[in-house]
Amino acid sequence: MSILKTKPAVFAVGNMYQIMVPVESESLLWIKCGNTCYYDEINGVLRSGCLVHKVCVPMEELDNVGEYTVYCRKIIKRKAYFTESEEPYQESFKFHPVSTNKKKILAYQIGDAHNHVDGPVAAAKRFEEEYGKIDFLVLNGDIPDHSGTIENFDTIYKIADRITGGEIPIIFARGNHDLRGSFAEKLTDYTPNENGNTYFTVRLGNIWALVLDCGEDKADDNCEYAHTVSCSPFRKRETEYLKSLIKHPDEHYMAPGISHRLVIAHFPFTQISPEPFNIENEIYGEWTRVLENEIKPDLMLCAHMHDFGIHSSDSQNNRFEHSFTVVIGSKVILGSEPYFAGMGLLLQGEKTEIVFNDDKEILSAKNID
Ligand SMILES: [Fe+2]
Repeated sequence: MSILKTKPAVFAVGNMYQIMVPVESESLLWIKCGNTCYYDEINGVLRSGCLVHKVCVPMEELDNVGEYTVYCRKIIKRKAYFTESEEPYQESFKFHPVSTNKKKILAYQIGDAHNHVDGPVAAAKRFEEEYGKIDFLVLNGDIPDHSGTIENFDTIYKIADRITGGEIPIIFARGNHDLRGSFAEKLTDYTPNENGNTYFTVRLGNIWALVLDCGEDKADDNCEYAHTVSCSPFRKRETEYLKSLIKHPDEHYMAPGISHRLVIAHFPFTQISPEPFNIENEIYGEWTRVLENEIKPDLMLCAHMHDFGIHSSDSQNNRFEHSFTVVIGSKVILGSEPYFAGMGLLLQGEKTEIVFNDDKEILSAKNID
């Protein structure tokens, strides 16, 4: 019997897929792709004391094979000798990579779901009805309401299950609310990351994406955080990371075959913000300069504002000078009658179209130059 809580979520990080799947009880998990088994293990020891398993599979392998099988062995009692376990449950999934040959790429972004599942899923499905099946999903922060309970992390996997079915890649970025609560320090056990870092790059087909993480949205000494964050040093490390990327452009945004460059960041740090959100002028100014002068993204995809916005180079809202377009792509009303609208993205040759829609209708569709 399956103890998988949801279908797997295939997160893209670097040149690996981090396939993550939450489970109901203590278990061992591995994935067979082609003739190779990949295990959820640490230094050769299979993990069983985790609620979300993670198995890393090279992108090239899964892209070529186009399917994978999850094996999950329920532990009856883990012991120093002769651990007792059940026969493994197994389930196979098809996988559709973002093909380099595909002329039209479709993606959908969900941000600020704040524990809601039905609205975000319905919006993604409505977009697919109109435009066709998406090639990848972007989960752009604040998908759980906060990290105060482990159960909140289920939101990520429920949304991933119903939109991707474990069959297409997902790019995940952390949001500011994800830093709040007792389990925030353990978030990387439950979500994808690169060596513990929540900022990283991704290559999907001809698309290169940079995931940036602003951390919290107010200064570290804000009373709301009550001494629990130190995002400023974290952001400085990220600046160093950006500087390291631009030393090797040919391995990243200038790599052979790259035709689209995306930046994915929950917080739209290039925008003017009122007090107390107008922080880190120097750091965010530097990030913007690196993007503008070196990386030259086509688009930066954001969320956080709970409202839509498309800000090109002449927008009055721009805090720093930049020529790339910033799209804020989630409109959310929380409360007893929640409302959710998300953002669809169409990339076709030189054409880039941004679509805002909810579960009922396409609200707007705009071509970006
Ligand atoms: Fe946010």
